[in-house]
Amino acid sequence: MSRKKIALIGGGQIGGVLAQLIAQRQLGDVVMYDIVEDLPQGKCLDIAEASRIDGFDIVVKGTNDYKDIEGSDLVIVTAGLPRRPGMSRDDLLTTNAKIMKTVAENVKQYAPNAISIIISNPLDAMVTLYKKITGFPENRVMGQAGVLDSSRFATFIAWELGVSVKDVNALVLGGHGDTMVPIVRYANVNGIPAMEILEKKYGDKNKAKEVMTAMVERTKQAGGEVVKLLKTGSAFYSPASAAIAMAESIIYDEKRVLPVCAYLNGEYGVKGYYVGVPAVLGEKGVEKVIEFDLDAEEKALLNNSVNAVKSLVADMERLGF
Ligand code: APR
Repeated sequence: MSRKKIALIGGGQIGGVLAQLIAQRQLGDVVMYDIVEDLPQGKCLDIAEASRIDGFDIVVKGTNDYKDIEGSDLVIVTAGLPRRPGMSRDDLLTTNAKIMKTVAENVKQYAPNAISIIISNPLDAMVTLYKKITGFPENRVMGQAGVLDSSRFATFIAWELGVSVKDVNALVLGGHGDTMVPIVRYANVNGIPAMEILEKKYGDKNKAKEVMTAMVERTKQAGGEVVKLLKTGSAFYSPASAAIAMAESIIYDEKRVLPVCAYLNGEYGVKGYYVGVPAVLGEKGVEKVIEFDLDAEEKALLNNSVNAVKSLVADMERLGF
């Protein structure tokens, strides 16, 4: 049986961590494409030279030629410019749309059967454009946002409650922007509602609510918090880890239920847009969107987020993409 071939389009910060994680987990052979000459070749050589130490036995190849991605099973796209301090994800729209257009045209030509995970920002717009240009079926094009946003939310809850993050489940829905919707009602520690533990901790419902609201807000701003600290780029370790969780579920047909930026066909009352929702990820890509009942407040917040996605997509279309 042949090994999976994984194309990384973009060999920057996230691309580099992706290549290393894929190699260490032996998920498949890696081909990393970037427009910058020698950069992907240098990164891949560096990673390959750790193979004896880490004990992996796969091919890690850098290239500036799209032809080398031919026949890839999985494509992970990070090509584009990252956010700089003070810059919103939406500011990136025009620049990254131009890049995404070229990427999509080339993946369509060289890897027409691949499943694609888009990471480039502004995510909801980039994944929409990529889907439009490739014409790939909905199940084979998705975006990474929710796995990371949910992990951030879970991390803050674990820190606050002083429990292992492994036991915290937290879900974030909606667009990958300031309007994202952390679902407080279902945040739990091994099934126990996180709010209940918080209320017991503080012995005061209002105080517990205040603390939870602060964690929700921090989750929504978490990308910006990292940008502010790094000063020269945006988060890269955690987005790479998040995409790897998705890739593993697809490659090993795990059918994990992960929050994914998926194309909606009426689910959650949305048709024709990419929005962050829980979905089953398996060998066919997005195999099923899982719906659950939202309460009135959650519904309003999700609608608000969907509207933000719609206006972002409309902006992009107005710009000619
Ligand atoms: N084709 C391929 N690669 C490109 C192109 C292009 N047309 N234009 C730029 N690139 C490459 C850059 O050369 C760079 O190596 O994309 C890479 C992006 O890497 P970084 O700038 O290090 O950005 P990174 O931190 O990896 O984030 C990538 O993911 O989370 C998002 O907001 C983030 O949009 C950004 C993307």
